[in-house]
Amino acid sequence: MSRILSLLLMCCLLMPLNAVAAEKAVTILAAFGTSDAEAEKALLAIGDAYKKNNQPIIWTYSSNIIRAKLAKEGRPVFSMSEALDKAASMGATNVLIQSLHVIPAEEFCKIERMVIENLIAKPGRFESVILGHSLLESGQDLQEVVDATFAAIPKERTAQEAVVLMGHGNNRGPGDLTLIAADNAFQKRDPLVHLASVEGVLTFNDVLPELVKAGVKRVWLMPFMIVAGDHAKNDMAGPEADSWASQIRAAGMEPISIVKGMGHNPAIQNIFLRHSANAADDLVTGKKNK
Ligand code: CO
Repeated sequence: MSRILSLLLMCCLLMPLNAVAAEKAVTILAAFGTSDAEAEKALLAIGDAYKKNNQPIIWTYSSNIIRAKLAKEGRPVFSMSEALDKAASMGATNVLIQSLHVIPAEEFCKIERMVIENLIAKPGRFESVILGHSLLESGQDLQEVVDATFAAIPKERTAQEAVVLMGHGNNRGPGDLTLIAADNAFQKRDPLVHLASVEGVLTFNDVLPELVKAGVKRVWLMPFMIVAGDHAKNDMAGPEADSWASQIRAAGMEPISIVKGMGHNPAIQNIFLRHSANAADDLVTGKKNK
């Protein structure tokens, strides 16, 4: 059983989600967040996929910077603690929280911590609180994500052309190893497909010489992120000299940027839905094992 689930179970009276009246169950979708209205559509697409669960949805963004920016613009989004307060005010007894992060790194650890803090500070409000994990946590997830990513590569890309995926990456929490495993999986399927990240161990500086060595003429750039926000638009595809596209061009290759977040991909949405269902199943299993 997952470490967070075991912690949360101590705080909660156990009851399976499917035994609960629908109006008392609430889903909290926890994304990193974005202040870009176009990029936000990738999150809304995931929200649409969750509507089939017939539970009210509450959004929370884990990024303090993005929440502060949106609040300034008159478009406030809840913190995790505020989202749990909202769920309580709606009379929710059973809360499913689903992380919409790619890997369980700093942002995921932050929402874990905020959930635990809220449940300790305000005990007894919910009968159950469960947390669905980030996109990549199992071998099955990895296979499905690799399949979904290859399917999203434009058909115009030829076998002689490279693809570089821009992940976020982070060296906090267990997520760093996850991206290394993902890069290995992409490389195994196609040695011209690389995963590099903005932070963490998989740097673009290591990938660029590989592209030159392989003698490719064209490089397709795609975000390995749920939303194609600031990193995808500027650090990946932007006109500045240090963007990945500019560095590829400066090395004599042609970059083609696909600025579209993975949240639009139904296969990716389905992995999150499966993680939510697994978290609900684990709650039942946990009750049996008690
Ligand atoms: Co960042």
